[in-house]
Amino acid sequence: MKTLNIALDGPGGAGKSTIARAVAARLGIVYVDTGALYRTIGLYVRRQNVDPADCAAVEALLPGISLEIKYEDDGQQVYLNGERVGDAIRTPEMSHYASSVSVHPPVRAFLLETQRQIARENSTVMDGRDIGTVILPDAEVKIFVTASPECRAERRWRELTAKGIETTLEEVLAEMNERDARDAGRDIAPTAAAPDALIFDNTGLDLEQSVAFVLGVVAGKTGILPPRG
Ligand code: DC
Repeated sequence: MKTLNIALDGPGGAGKSTIARAVAARLGIVYVDTGALYRTIGLYVRRQNVDPADCAAVEALLPGISLEIKYEDDGQQVYLNGERVGDAIRTPEMSHYASSVSVHPPVRAFLLETQRQIARENSTVMDGRDIGTVILPDAEVKIFVTASPECRAERRWRELTAKGIETTLEEVLAEMNERDARDAGRDIAPTAAAPDALIFDNTGLDLEQSVAFVLGVVAGKTGILPPRG
């Protein structure tokens, strides 16, 4: 059966993953967090004491990495060489490592087929930076989600604080700006809206409003509505 794929791209803190998870739950399809894959490679690189900016050194590590994605009761889980990585990939340090390794073409090539295979086998809401442009150029729905830097930094800060990670709003804003500049400025597959993507600025909107917007776009483009109840 033909699958439905919804691509949500955009910078950090725009709420992509929270929106994508909720939309996938409402439609009864799979949420794919592609950032978790880059974060897991970042974790491995960190553990091997390799400089994440060193493309050749990072490339040399790739044959030692086996990634598996499993859908468990608490959502998508990434396994690195058989180990469930869990929250070890969710630290600010891993945000930095993920962004740094993601500029290297061999890393992107390494993850490309994994992402496409999931989308071939499942209907998905996939969030990332290059889903609509590179990974799934034929996705039925493409939305580029963004918000003002201040709004995005505050959301990220709340998320980190809720997890007990101590940081200030200023630190989060600075880290986010640095990461966004790297992700959007890299030569390969930069953060970008596909020409046929809808731009959705959700500054000031809450989750429910954002989810309703995305479901409305999905219904308008595909005729697919969430099941009742
Ligand atoms: O979405 P996230 O914050 O978990 O992503 C972490 C980093 O991974 C992000 O700064 C850039 C990279 N990334 C990417 O290059 N392409 C994607 N599709 C997803 C993430």
